[in-house]
Amino acid sequence: MTYQEAQIIRAFHELYYYKGIYERGTITNTYWMGVGTEKCPLDLWIYQEILHEVKPQLIIETGTKHGGSALFLCHMCDLLGIGEVVTIDIASPTKPPEHSRLTYIRGSSTAPDIVQSVYDRAEGKSPVMVILDSDHSMSHVLGEMRAYHRLVTPGSYMIVEDTNVNGHPVMPQHGPGPLEAVQAFFRENQDFEVDYSREKFLMTCNPCGYLRKRT
Ligand SMILES: C[S@@+](CC[C@H](N)C(=O)[O-])C[C@H]1O[C@@H](n2cnc3c(N)ncnc32)[C@H](O)[C@@H]1O
Repeated sequence: MTYQEAQIIRAFHELYYYKGIYERGTITNTYWMGVGTEKCPLDLWIYQEILHEVKPQLIIETGTKHGGSALFLCHMCDLLGIGEVVTIDIASPTKPPEHSRLTYIRGSSTAPDIVQSVYDRAEGKSPVMVILDSDHSMSHVLGEMRAYHRLVTPGSYMIVEDTNVNGHPVMPQHGPGPLEAVQAFFRENQDFEVDYSREKFLMTCNPCGYLRKRT
C-alpha cells in the first residue's frame, strides 16, 4: 500500500468517526433491526465471515450497550443453526432486545464472580469466541484478555474492539486503550496472532484487533 492510499483510508476513518452527517458521528447512529449497534458495518461483515468459518457454539461479548451487536450475533447464529450469545455489561440496555439465544449478565466483565459465571456457562462448549467491547481503557481490556483468553478455542477468535482509539487514528486524547492492551498481552502470551486478513475492507475499528488463537 502506498503512503497516499494509507492517507485516504485514515481520512475516511476520521470522517466516518466524527464528521458524518450526524453530530456525534455515524458510529453511534448505526442500527441492527432497529437496535443501536456501535459497530462499523464493514466490521460486522467480517464478523459474519468469521462466524461462518468458526461456527462458535458460544459467543461471549463484553459491553452490551443497546444490545444491537448481541442481537446481530444471535441472528447470524440463527442462519448458521448453532450458537448462543452471552453479553456482559455493568448497565442494562433501556430496551434490551430479546432472543432465545441471548443471555444478559449484569456486572463488571473483570469481576471474579462474573468471570466465574462465564466459565461455568462455557463448560463443555466448543468452539468459543470472545468479543471485548466494554471499558476501553488499557488496564480494563488487558484484564479482560487475561480473564477470558483461556476460553477461546484454537482457531477461534478473541476480537478486541476499538483498537483505533488513542490516535490509531481516532480520539488521540483517549489515553492508552485497546491497542496498547493488545501489545502488552502479546508480551506475555504467544497463543494468539493478529489476523490481518480481517482488515481487508481497509477501514476497521479494530486494527490489530482480530486475534486468532493458534492451533
Ligand atoms: C462501546 S459500548 C458497547 C457497544 C456494543 N458492544 C455494541 O457493539 O453496540 C461499551 C459498553 O461497555 C459497558 N461497560 C463499561 N465498563 C464495563 C465493565 N467494567 N464491564 C462490563 N461492561 C462495561 C458500558 O456500560 C457500555 O454499555
